[in-house]
Amino acid sequence: MLDPTYSGYVKDGVYILATILFIYALHEMSNPATARKGVLWAGAGMFLAVLVTAIFSGASPDAFVPGINISQGQLEENLGLMAIAIAIGGGLAYLWAIRVKMTDMPQMVAIYNGMGGGAAAGIAALALIARTDTVGYLGLAVVGGLIGSVSFAGSLIAFLKLQGWMRQKPITFPGQQAINIIVLLAAIVFGAVTLLNDSGHVGAIGTSVAIPFVGINTALLLFFVLGLGYGFMMAIPIGGADMPVVISLFNAFTGMAVALDGFATSNYAMIVAGMLVGSAGSLLTLLMAKAMNRSISNVLFSAFGATEETGVEMKGSMKPIEAADVAALLAYAGKVIIAPGYGMAVAQAQHKVKEMMDVLEKKDVVVKFAIHPVAGRMPGHMNVLLAEAGVPYDHLYDRDEINQEFASADVAMVIGANDVVNPAARRQGSPLFGMPILDVDAAKNVIVLKRGQGKGFAGVENDLFYKDNTRMLYGDAQETVAKLVQELKKL
Ligand code: TAP
Repeated sequence: MLDPTYSGYVKDGVYILATILFIYALHEMSNPATARKGVLWAGAGMFLAVLVTAIFSGASPDAFVPGINISQGQLEENLGLMAIAIAIGGGLAYLWAIRVKMTDMPQMVAIYNGMGGGAAAGIAALALIARTDTVGYLGLAVVGGLIGSVSFAGSLIAFLKLQGWMRQKPITFPGQQAINIIVLLAAIVFGAVTLLNDSGHVGAIGTSVAIPFVGINTALLLFFVLGLGYGFMMAIPIGGADMPVVISLFNAFTGMAVALDGFATSNYAMIVAGMLVGSAGSLLTLLMAKAMNRSISNVLFSAFGATEETGVEMKGSMKPIEAADVAALLAYAGKVIIAPGYGMAVAQAQHKVKEMMDVLEKKDVVVKFAIHPVAGRMPGHMNVLLAEAGVPYDHLYDRDEINQEFASADVAMVIGANDVVNPAARRQGSPLFGMPILDVDAAKNVIVLKRGQGKGFAGVENDLFYKDNTRMLYGDAQETVAKLVQELKKL
């Protein structure tokens, strides 16, 4: 058996190393060029933290979940089971991750995040069942358990909606908000009941406590069931396309739940990892909401996308154009700015777009990419796709950097983007009003690539398509760009 003092030092030392790796990983992830490495560093940190927890959990008196009275033998038995669970879970996650399509990434993130929330709720349940800690620490476990269960259930709904296994449009009914508040309050009441009865006592729940009407076992069970119920109720009124914001919010919840569990179980690695996830998730949620000019409460409670905008008359008509004419326009342009959106991801057109960029650059045309922060369906969606296709990072420009350049562009080419280029965002009364957009309509010519008359996710008619300087090039974006490349090569 290892020396407890020695093992304590080793464990804490490795936790500090893991913390440094997590922070360094976040730093690397903030740039697309180093993001992959960042993911690997974070994985290495997590691997070390899990390994050292497993190795030293039996050896140190303050290890693992404090107060769960299990013998060294039981622990070793459990370590074997844990290793099997990690191998099965890790194996399945690996297989899924290498096969997943880029467009299906949001739902994969949703379900993995949900698992994190579920695990945090499970750890909180263990701490509450053992009940050997002080009431303060058990209080943290109650809060962590509630947040973890909300995140678990909410993330599962997000997964089902994004996967198309559940109605994507918001599900609403009269009195919904009131019911949600009642469910949340009931969960809090049962959490408090669980906490205030028998806290500080050693032993399994249900052995020494008498609560009026319900036993503590039932109270604990109801606490988690209501927490799950609230997560479910919170997520169903949110539309599929708002889900990335909600996933990011649940991600922040999971981080908070893990950090609270870390306090309740005296595990420093969990505290740090949880806080990093919690703060990064919160920041990302706020950034996405800001990019859509919507408040978090609007995303959560307005059932955005439940109804489509009606009664707005468009002036003019949509004017189609042929690929050969677009190719000529592009070939003789000085500057072309490409604004990609969700449709480019659906069509998986990024490789063809890169080919088109190469052909144009050979003809001395300056090609730039205008990246809207919420183009597509997840943060950095366009950056990831274009990086995958080999478009250099210095060709990608944020909205703030590129907007004033549209006026000097000969062609603005919109590839499968809609809401993020919709001038309706400037019209008071439009559901998009106030959303910062890419000002593609300022370019001399605007070419829009899309399949037909489909609206964007917000369901708002796009004024851009009817403008005098706009031409519509219909078809699947991958096929259309392939045609453009062919035509350009002829010129
Ligand atoms: P959208 O507004 O969703 O429009 C996508 C367009 O792509 C549609 O008009 C569609 O028209 C076209 N399209 C679909 N498949 C295509 C294909 N195979 N080939 C060519 N075109 C195709 O996209 P956006 O401009 O990127 O805006 C994103 C929206 O998602 C915003 O409203 C944003 O607020 C929301 N959102 C994004 C995020 C993040 S983090 N990115 C988070 C939450 C919400 P057709 O059907 O006619 O082809």
